[in-house]
Amino acid sequence: MRAKLVAGNWKMYGSLAANLKLLTHIKEAAAGLRCGAAVCVPFPYLEQARSALSGTSVAWGGQNVSEHEEGAYTGEVSAAMLQEFGCRYVLVGHSERRALFAESDSTVAAKFAQAQRAGLIPILCVGETLAEREDGVTAAVVTRQLDAVLNDSGVAALSRAVLAYEPVWAIGTGKTASPEQAQEVHALIRARVAQSAAAVAEGLQILYGGSVKPGNARELFAMPDIDGGLVGGASLVAEDFLAICAAA
Ligand code: 13P
Repeated sequence: MRAKLVAGNWKMYGSLAANLKLLTHIKEAAAGLRCGAAVCVPFPYLEQARSALSGTSVAWGGQNVSEHEEGAYTGEVSAAMLQEFGCRYVLVGHSERRALFAESDSTVAAKFAQAQRAGLIPILCVGETLAEREDGVTAAVVTRQLDAVLNDSGVAALSRAVLAYEPVWAIGTGKTASPEQAQEVHALIRARVAQSAAAVAEGLQILYGGSVKPGNARELFAMPDIDGGLVGGASLVAEDFLAICAAA
């Protein structure tokens, strides 16, 4: 059995005061959690997450990382810097980065490689838009996004990574993929990895993201290839985040 993981993606929300309340709640509940849990926070709050969560079972991470190791890249943050702040995870290829910041498959693959080089566990996000789903190219899109990383880093790299399937049409819209719709894509991702390495595929945690809430988490996480969730909005509310962890 693969362990379940619930990762919160705070996106560009929060303040020192609001985070303190949220992190304190999470910290208090951490000892009772029976799944893996993590929060991916804005860069300026990494130290706050570290000081709140050190010594607990809850990990923290970034939401983005530079594809470069270091250098004259004003405004960028390197994987080594995230590692220094105790990050276990970093999101790469979130659909908002792909769509709003023009991150290509090859850029995402380079970020993935940088993260692993620094000892971080990348959470590689893949997923189709509504137009792509309606055009019947969901499998092709997800496979292309996955293959960019497989071709660059090799299949063995996925034994030190997490996948997240996030259909773009389900993000922040309140429209969740049905458990069956999500399961279909999760199974496809696992099968794709299994073509190169069955054992890696078997051990790979594949999270679902897109309007995960306390009310729908349990049925999603009950599907055989859904190993937890990547949670946006609901991760900003301690009760909701913890309820989703309880469902996992
Ligand atoms: P929501 O849970 O707010 O739909 O966001 C999902 C997401 O993008 C997590 O990375």
